[in-house]
This record gives sequence, C-alpha cells and structure tokens, in this order.
Amino acid sequence: MSVTISVPPQLLLERILTLEIVRVTERAAVSAARLRGHGNEKGADQAAVDAMRRELNKIPIRGTVVIGEGERDEAPMLFIGEKVGAEAGGPEVDIAVDPLEGTTLCAKNMPGSIATMAMAEGGTLLNAPDVYMQKIAIGPGYAKNTIELDAPPAENIRRLARAKDVHPSAITALVLDRPRHAEIINAVRSTGAAVRLITDGDVAGVIHTADPDNTGVDIYIGTGGAPEGVLAASALRCIGGQMQCRLILDTEEKRERAAKMGIKDPAMIYGIEDMVKGDCLFAATGVTDGSLLSGVKFRKNTIETETVVMRSVTGTVRYIKAEHRQLDKFHLD
Ligand code: FBP
Repeated sequence: MSVTISVPPQLLLERILTLEIVRVTERAAVSAARLRGHGNEKGADQAAVDAMRRELNKIPIRGTVVIGEGERDEAPMLFIGEKVGAEAGGPEVDIAVDPLEGTTLCAKNMPGSIATMAMAEGGTLLNAPDVYMQKIAIGPGYAKNTIELDAPPAENIRRLARAKDVHPSAITALVLDRPRHAEIINAVRSTGAAVRLITDGDVAGVIHTADPDNTGVDIYIGTGGAPEGVLAASALRCIGGQMQCRLILDTEEKRERAAKMGIKDPAMIYGIEDMVKGDCLFAATGVTDGSLLSGVKFRKNTIETETVVMRSVTGTVRYIKAEHRQLDKFHLD
C-alpha cells in the first residue's frame, strides 16, 4: 500500500529552502574563517560575501537583496536591490544578509562572529538603510509592551523584573560597549541589574534574550546597525520575543535615503511584525567560537561547522553540526 502525503508546493519549497540557506551561511562562514586572526577585516568580509553570493545563486528562488552590503554604488556585490537566485520560475523572496557579522571579531579571532541571513516572502522585509538603529529586545513569554523603547532604561529593567517576578538584581542586560551607551549602562546598574558588555555582534546579542536560562541574558538595550536589527527581528519572529526599534535618521541626507527606500515616517517605532511582515527563515553559522555557536573547525580531512536555522511557520529551531568532506569544493572559497 502506498501512502501519499500532500504538502502544498509553497510549503514544500519553504521546507527545502530551510536547508538551502544553511548551505549559504556555512559556505560564507568557512570562507571568512580562513582569514580568522589575520587582522584583515575587509578581506574576511569579501571572502564571506563572495561565497554567500555564489551559494545564493544556486538556490531555486527569485531573490532580491533588501538588507545587504550597502547601496549599489558603494557595494559591488550583495548590494541592496541585487537580484539573486537560480530559478526564473522560483518564488519571489526578500533576502537580508550579513555575510560576516562581527568583522573585527573575525579579524582579531575573538568570540562571536557569525555568517547570517534571513529570507522572507517578497516585499515583507523592512528595506532599512545602513544607518544606526535604537533597539530594545526581550525573549518570549511576557505580556505585550512589557518593555518600551521610549521608557527610561531603569524603568524597563524594573518592568521586566516585575514580569519575571524577580528583583532587578536578577536581571542581566546585554549592551554594546560603546561610549554612546554610558548613560544606559549607568541607568541599568542603578537598579541593581547587571550589564554584560560585548565589543561587537548584536544580532547574536538580541538572540541571546530568547533563552535567558541558558544565556544569562534577559534584555538587549542600545544602538547598533539597522541591517543587524532587521536580521535579529527575523530570528525573534521565529523563536518569539519582543523588539522595538527606531532608525536614527539625524541628517537630511539619511532621511532622503530612507525616503527613497519607502520609509515615510522617520521617527516610527518598529515592532518585529513591522520589520518582518510575513513568514521567514533565519540562519547563522559560527565563524569564531561564541556563546551562540561554535566556530568553523578545520580538520585534516573534514571541515566542521555549526549552524542554527529557524523557521517562523513552525517556530522550529535546529542546530546543525555539519562535517564537510568534499574539501575540494571548499578550496574554491
Ligand atoms: P560589522 O560586522 O559590520 O563590523 O558590525 C558589527 C557590529 O558590532 C554590529 O553587530 C552592530 O550592530 C554594529 O557593529 C555597531 O556599530 P558600531 O561598531 O559603529 O558601534
């Protein structure tokens, strides 16, 4: 007796694409990892970009890069608006990439650099210019608006502590170690809460808030890149959580750039659903070892990678440890 399982074509393709995007971030991570600790940020980034673009062009999609390496005139590859994919008849998708998130971490061989991307139905990812963005994020399981971007940081810590039913001293906030965050850091500490500082890499930083029991991080606060904000929002759309963000459009030139990308209200506060309007996939592969993912391991006969891949339709999170044996393929990278 044969059993027929019927899966709608769109859903089937999305399931297949889940593994395809793993290949994309794996290749980018391996290429960047070859330059770990070489002090060459640009070279490592370029290697990741080249590999990611090659792999994206093998996938049966009609993709448009909406978060990329920069605008067309400043980025030769994976620029905003670039078309990628191998299939004239494939589904139309928006793509957000950060082929090497944490270029300095990779160049210095420090923990936490990743290769990451998100994919969503065409027209559903925020087209954000490469400017700064204010961000606040917590994990799943809290009432709506437990935290608010415009509430003072100390107030957000107290609200989160109340929601968790703990004293503020049991809360840890992750913050990028930048002079611009001095006030936030003081305000968080004034409540008794702890601050964990990171030198770079706030995509992983935001993802940490989704699993406070294991990461020890309850909340992310601060200003980082807008492209990284959209990538982090894609991950939280899959695993749950809350995030509020605002683009920093503090010059006429930035406001014009944003307007050209369709941003009508420069002061808008974006929630996750405003940045990622539909179902999405998110993947990240470790380049250097980090608390989210192990970095690439170059063995005698294999290359090992670790990737996390998420799918918002089901909320499934998979950690994929891969042993790559066809090393000649990787020598192309
Ligand atoms: P790069 O990989 O582009 O260097 O970004 C690293 C990063 O730390 C991001 O995670 C973060 O959003 C941004 O830089 C913060 O910007 P800045 O270093 O200018 O404060």
